[in-house]
Amino acid sequence: MNERWESTAQGRALVTGATGLVGRALLRALGGNAIATTRRASTQAGHLEGASELVTWDAVSTLPSNALSGVDAIFHLAGEPVAEGRWTDAKRQRIRASRTGSTRALVRSIERVDVGARPRVLVCASAVGIYGSRGDEVLGEDAAPAEGFLADVCREWEAEAARAESLGVRVVSLRIGIVLAKEGGALAKMLTPFELGLGAALGSGAQWMPWIHVDDVVGLLRFAAATATLRGPVNAAAPETVTNAEFTRALGRAVHRPAWLRAPRFALELALGEVAAVVLASQRVVPKRAQGAGFEFAHPTLDEALAATLEGKPPSKRFRAAGRFA
Ligand SMILES: NC(=O)c1ccc[n+]([C@@H]2O[C@H](COP(=O)([O-])OP(=O)(O)OC[C@H]3O[C@@H](n4cnc5c(N)ncnc54)[C@H](OP(=O)(O)O)[C@@H]3O)[C@@H](O)[C@H]2O)c1
Repeated sequence: MNERWESTAQGRALVTGATGLVGRALLRALGGNAIATTRRASTQAGHLEGASELVTWDAVSTLPSNALSGVDAIFHLAGEPVAEGRWTDAKRQRIRASRTGSTRALVRSIERVDVGARPRVLVCASAVGIYGSRGDEVLGEDAAPAEGFLADVCREWEAEAARAESLGVRVVSLRIGIVLAKEGGALAKMLTPFELGLGAALGSGAQWMPWIHVDDVVGLLRFAAATATLRGPVNAAAPETVTNAEFTRALGRAVHRPAWLRAPRFALELALGEVAAVVLASQRVVPKRAQGAGFEFAHPTLDEALAATLEGKPPSKRFRAAGRFA
């Protein structure tokens, strides 16, 4: 049984990026005692299941002075979406600033709290993008980070978070893979073409594709907060490593449609610009430190994880409109 950090009245959680895919799932799991931050003042606390308090934070300035009062664990999940839209200069700036700048602002906020009253732990999102594209190399946390835009952002993000160690705060950076969830993210985008029988391997399909079920991301966030021996980078990817071609076939099986097409690299580059490099990157990431510390994945294998994710989910509206599922 995994150790799970609990949010209590004595030691609460502060969750940034709480309106996002992972943030919402974490809030639901924490069960009502967490403080949530959002940039959007209009979001009502009632809309965020699991949040007892909603703090408006621009992810640039320090937090309002009382936001960290009674907080034991910070889960920092805010960040400009990476795989949506083209990487213009302005978008790159948002991707970087929303991670490194926001983390710096958080650490400055912690610094302002009296030493004895500081949070014990900061669990900060990071991403498998830190490894770049590495062919068949097996990537534990000890693998050297790559260079390039995303890898640089991840390195800077982790370095900013690590500064909180000097304030007496234990820091864990979760290097998250592609999150599989019913509610959104990459899988939601893939689903319609797959349901239409147009599921396609990307490029050669030989690239390794680190994936993780959203329940396991939430489990790992709580495990990292609860496990005093964990600090530094922790890979958040399922133990069953698959190539993109294997993932494509598994998703085809899950929606009972053939998936033998291929989207050539040049077409992806034309359609997606630089984002194509993200979907074509090969990252055989293994959860060495999480498993070494005793974390048990609820969804370790892809077929089961996809079945669990799609269970009870009606086929996409578009497809139903075409009458195939009527
Ligand atoms: N989902 C994945 O597959 C995946 C994979 C690897 C790493 N990660 C990382 O894990 C974290 C959580 O992922 P997620 O999928 O939950 O993300 P998400 O659904 O995109 O949500 C992230 C949240 O960050 C806030 N945000 C968006 N743009 C921002 C900006 N420019 N400045 C400051 N805040 C901004 C938004 O909250 P408000 O609008 O309410 O402020 C949003 O709800 C992210 O840092 C992401 O990079 C995710």
